[in-house]
Amino acid sequence: MRIIKRIAELRQAVRGMKRRGRSIGFVPTMGALHEGHLSLIRKARRETDWVIVSLFINPIQFNRRSDFRSYPRVLAQDARKAAGAGADALFAPSAVEIYPPDFQTSVEVERLSRRWEGRSRPGHFRGVATVVAKLFHLVQPDIAYFGQKDAQQARIVRQMIRDLNFDIRLRILPTIRELGGLAMSSRNQLLSSSARRPSRLLFEALQEARRLIQWGERRGSVVVRRMRQIIHKSSKARIDYAAIVNPKTLEPVEKLQGKVQVLLAVWIGPVRLIDNIQCYVPS
Ligand code: PAF
Repeated sequence: MRIIKRIAELRQAVRGMKRRGRSIGFVPTMGALHEGHLSLIRKARRETDWVIVSLFINPIQFNRRSDFRSYPRVLAQDARKAAGAGADALFAPSAVEIYPPDFQTSVEVERLSRRWEGRSRPGHFRGVATVVAKLFHLVQPDIAYFGQKDAQQARIVRQMIRDLNFDIRLRILPTIRELGGLAMSSRNQLLSSSARRPSRLLFEALQEARRLIQWGERRGSVVVRRMRQIIHKSSKARIDYAAIVNPKTLEPVEKLQGKVQVLLAVWIGPVRLIDNIQCYVPS
């Protein structure tokens, strides 16, 4: 697997692939690769000719410096994992390569960025949309792969693709979970051993939401209240938000009907975890 650090080299490789009529599959990441990322790379391997993974810890999407500083950095290990899953190239640029000193343009998907993660992490989605737009321009993928775990991010990227007329197909793949249900995330590495048990409460709360809906509960507020009770079983857990939303608008819904998305963000000590599920509610 080839490691590319400079934009000029990336452009040359992309031009070569396009000239030879090869399809490009793209998996953007911030590294600390886990099974969730690897499932995206494997899917890209099956569906496209040239698979490129980006590894860039995007400074402008972190609203807390401590979060940026503590983000796991394991390039050599990530390179081995990406190659093992079938990547052909790893694009790992420096921060100045992506944001030279006079950089001043940003992309914002306005309405969808306001709530949930956007409210708790001001500027986060502007940072995500800006870097993803830049990476899309550089990599020119036929198909881009994202995980369902970051549901709001996936929805925002879909909207940006449409709004800015990127000629890219988006694949959103299911969340991969650890034994016990915790959604795989690079941040799980930051959980202490005593935080592991309460971290499973997110999955428990989401499963309970699904059960209640399956049993016929149609009031969003009742389901959310029950989820909150489950999370509060641990004194280590602090809810940031728990909500049931329309997956398209991300607006909360009270009368549950059709496709809904159940969202959860919870602090377990110093680590913030997010998770979600989709449910279909027959009318
Ligand atoms: O999901 C992530 O890892 C990041 O938000 C992304 C999409 C790579 C942009 O930095």
